[in-house]
Amino acid sequence: MTASLRCFCQLGDLSGAAGFLAKTRRHLHQHPELSFQEVETAALVAGHLQDWGWQVTRGVGGHGVVGTLQQGGGSRSVALRADMDALPIEEATGRPYSSRTAGVMHACGHDGHTAMLLGAAQHLAQTRRFSGTVHLVFQPAEEAGKGSGAQRMIEDGLFERFPCDAIFGLHNTPGYPAGTFGFGSGPFMSASDTAHITIHGRGGHAARPHQTVDPVLIAGSLVVALQSVVSRNIDPRETAIVTIGALHAGSAANVIPDTATMALSIRSFEPAVRDRLEARIRALVTAHVQGYGGEATVVYERGYPVVVNSEAETTFAREVAEELVGPGRVIAPFPPVTGSEDFAFYLQRKPGCFFRLGNGEEGAMLHNPAYDFNDEILTVGAAYWTRLVERYLAD
Ligand code: NI
Repeated sequence: MTASLRCFCQLGDLSGAAGFLAKTRRHLHQHPELSFQEVETAALVAGHLQDWGWQVTRGVGGHGVVGTLQQGGGSRSVALRADMDALPIEEATGRPYSSRTAGVMHACGHDGHTAMLLGAAQHLAQTRRFSGTVHLVFQPAEEAGKGSGAQRMIEDGLFERFPCDAIFGLHNTPGYPAGTFGFGSGPFMSASDTAHITIHGRGGHAARPHQTVDPVLIAGSLVVALQSVVSRNIDPRETAIVTIGALHAGSAANVIPDTATMALSIRSFEPAVRDRLEARIRALVTAHVQGYGGEATVVYERGYPVVVNSEAETTFAREVAEELVGPGRVIAPFPPVTGSEDFAFYLQRKPGCFFRLGNGEEGAMLHNPAYDFNDEILTVGAAYWTRLVERYLAD
């Protein structure tokens, strides 16, 4: 059979599933669950997969669910991942299907990611036009930061128990036309690290500052000094961000406190830049605070690594999108994003591609109380995942 005679999934093939997918997505939206608490979401996913004939493994790395479907004699294997968790945000969309849990909402569209992958699961099980093995990875706790769902699933033997040749994942992206795709090879999303700094001074009476080591003055000066790390230590052709997101000290006008604390978010795309940022922040903070007579402690935590897409898999994923929606609706190369994703951990171990799917030009940004996933792109994503499997596991 030649490739030209094969029939791969088209957009219209999923149109009959649009109602079911929107209903499923809105159900998930109404019942959001925070990282590490995805009990009902995992149960819903596992139930559907089982009904459709997938082999289901639950409790992988916490509430993770893996669905496996084997067909034909093909030896290749591919993994597709969707994240399932919500955020600690009070919803302000005013939608009839708004969150029923106070202070928790799907503000990152993981409800949509989960529904899209379920759409592909249903269609693949019905049509089975592939030869090989598909693993659907429904991952918990993407938003968790330290010890996130991807790390836990990997530690629980994800790639040993469910071997795959490549892994793919997507994220919806507000601000881009609905159903457009964005691909980029190499560094695609930034590493995200944090630093917690405590400045130890010596407190005292506001009227006798000469008898103190004032941590408020040191902190103020340090805020300015830290701006030099990116501007004077990093090659201007590289991307780096140092943001001081929190600064706390003191509680009264007439008291100089003992300590001040700061919390930094640090982003980068290259390992060498990441190392340089850490080294410079540690050295600058220590010396700067000592220069004023204080002492500093720096707790520097490396968070999600850089999302690095492999070239061959990115080219393949882009081609599948171009076939499905036409080259005019595919942005490549899509500019790197200074957000971070724990999909990076999968890509440290397997070739693969993480890419963007436009959520519509209107509407709120991710992690915003007014954000909502666009149900129009559910069938686009489900058709894409189906076609990707059919193409990857073609005879
Ligand atoms: Ni997200």
